[in-house]
Amino acid sequence: MSKLATLFRMVRNRDPLLKFFLLRKLGAWLVPKYRFNWPQLAWWNDEVFNAYLWRFDEFDGCNSDRHWALGQLTRLVADVPGDTAECGVFRGASSYLICRGNQLAPNRRIHHLFDSFEGLSKPSTVDGSFWSAGDLACPLDVVKENLQEFGEEAVRYHQGWIPERFHELSHLHFSFVHIDVDLYEPTRDSLEFFYSRMSEGGIIMCDDYGFTSCPGATAAFDEYLTDKPEPMVVLPCGGGFLIKRAP
Ligand SMILES: C[S@@+](CC[C@H](N)C(=O)[O-])C[C@H]1O[C@@H](n2cnc3c(N)ncnc32)[C@H](O)[C@@H]1O
Repeated sequence: MSKLATLFRMVRNRDPLLKFFLLRKLGAWLVPKYRFNWPQLAWWNDEVFNAYLWRFDEFDGCNSDRHWALGQLTRLVADVPGDTAECGVFRGASSYLICRGNQLAPNRRIHHLFDSFEGLSKPSTVDGSFWSAGDLACPLDVVKENLQEFGEEAVRYHQGWIPERFHELSHLHFSFVHIDVDLYEPTRDSLEFFYSRMSEGGIIMCDDYGFTSCPGATAAFDEYLTDKPEPMVVLPCGGGFLIKRAP
């Protein structure tokens, strides 16, 4: 059936997907390479998750699918021993999901946050020109308020430039680490520190992996994993993760 005939049929039948059909046509004209998702995704109606998105001002942004993926992955590590960590916190939206995931774990675990709270460090040549030093700054006080409900015992803040404060956790092992610093050097330093400290079955997720706006972060992972057994799984929504194997 021709596209025009499809359109007439949809109008005649008052098809609920008519507006979506028109949106796709408009999208194909405005941004030809853009690919839409079907709007019947059940998780789009998840009230708890939607409330979370509104709370962090992410409902109509472009990160909701990656936040959903992160929340789902934290469920995989409930039984994996070790604390959790995030390198690159911004307002604490992804840390919030990790802290929620930690509440499912049978044993108490602590979530460690690493950030300058002054924004990005200086990009290197491999990072391209998308980011600038100081982008995405959010004061520590705001993050503390956003994560207040988890209590002081469940969250530790390590303010400073990565990797300055990693050594304080050298004795720990981890079940889930989220790396989201957008740039080559802090991504490389984070991966180097955490990889050997992951428990078997633990997950390292990189929010920036595979984004053409973050070539340095992708390169840092690809270089480091060259001689490691774990494949990096690329998510369709952007980002990627690995599951640590036995040493
Ligand atoms: C994209 S934001 C993190 C977003 C957050 N994970 C989320 O999804 O809500 C990147 C963060 O990395 C931090 N950052 C970037 N480079 C850093 C470095 N070298 N040392 C410490 N923090 C850094 C920035 O301050 C910023 O908060």
